[in-house]
Amino acid sequence: MSDAVLQGRTALVTGASSGLGRHFALTLARAGADVAIAARRMEMLETLAGEVAKTGRKAVPIQLDVTDAGSVGAAADRAAAALGSLDILINNSGVAPGDAAIDVDEATWDRCLDTNLKGAWLMAQESARHMIRGGKGGVIVNIASILSVRVQKGTAPYAISKAGLLQMTKALALEWARYGIRVNALAPGYIETDISRAFLQSEPGQRMMKSIPQRRFGQTEDLDGALLFFASDASQYVTGIFLPVDGGHTLALA
Ligand SMILES: NC(=O)c1ccc[n+]([C@@H]2O[C@H](COP(=O)([O-])OP(=O)(O)OC[C@H]3O[C@@H](n4cnc5c(N)ncnc54)[C@H](OP(=O)(O)O)[C@@H]3O)[C@@H](O)[C@H]2O)c1
Repeated sequence: MSDAVLQGRTALVTGASSGLGRHFALTLARAGADVAIAARRMEMLETLAGEVAKTGRKAVPIQLDVTDAGSVGAAADRAAAALGSLDILINNSGVAPGDAAIDVDEATWDRCLDTNLKGAWLMAQESARHMIRGGKGGVIVNIASILSVRVQKGTAPYAISKAGLLQMTKALALEWARYGIRVNALAPGYIETDISRAFLQSEPGQRMMKSIPQRRFGQTEDLDGALLFFASDASQYVTGIFLPVDGGHTLALA
C-alpha cells in the first residue's frame, strides 16, 4: 500500500483524545487525510492537533459527547464544514466498565450502552447523511472488539454493546451500499494503551497472554494495516465484515 493512500480524503475520528483513537488520527493523517478529532477532553485534542499539523495535514479538534444526539449532529456538521466533506468515519469512542454481571447497576449499563452502541449508531447516521449529501459515498469503520464474538467474566455490558456494534455494522452495510458507503468492523484484541497497560502487565494479564497464539499483546501499530485497508480504496469491494486483529486470540478456547 502506498504511503499516501488517503491523499485528498477527510476523516472524523471519535474518541481521539487518547489510546487507539489518538493513534488512528495520526495514522490517517500520515496516509494523507485531513482529520477532525473529536472527544470530550478538548485539551488533549488540542495537543494532538499540534502533532497532526507536523504531518502537514489539517486537524480540527471538536468537542463531542457521543451519548448526546445534539452533540453528535453538531460535531458531524462541524467536521464536514471545516474539512469540506466527510469521507471516512472512525467510530472509536468507547468505555469499558469491568464489573461482575451481578453488580452492574443501571447507570453503568446505560453509560456503556449509550456510549458504545447508541453513540456509534448516532455517529454513523449523522456521518452517513453527510456522505449521502456529498454524493461520493464513504467509509465507516466501527471499532468493535474480540468481545463482540467471545465473552469474558467481568465484561458483560461491554461485550453486549460490542456484539450489538457488530450486528449494526452488517445492518448498515446492507442498507447503505446503495449510497456507496462501506461499513466494516475492526476488532482489536488486547492492545497496550495507557488504560490497559497495568492490567496487561499484571499476573492475570500475563496468564491471559499465554492463551494468545502469538504470545504477545498488540501494539497500536498492529492495527494500522487493517485501519488503512478499510479506510482506503484497497477494500472497495469489502463491506459488512468483521476483522479481528488479535494475534489469533479469538481462535483459542482457553
Ligand atoms: N485497547 C484495547 O485493547 C481495545 C481492544 C478492543 C477494542 N477497543 C476499543 O477501542 C476503542 C478505544 O479504546 P482505547 O483502548 O483507546 O481506550 P481509551 O484510551 O479510554 O479511549 C476511549 C476514547 O473514547 C472517548 N469517549 C469515551 N466516552 C465518550 C463520550 N461519551 N463521547 C465521546 N468520546 C468518548 C474518550 O475520550 P473523552 O474521555 O475525552 O471523551 C477516549 O478518547 C474503544 O471503543 C474500545 O472499546 C480497545
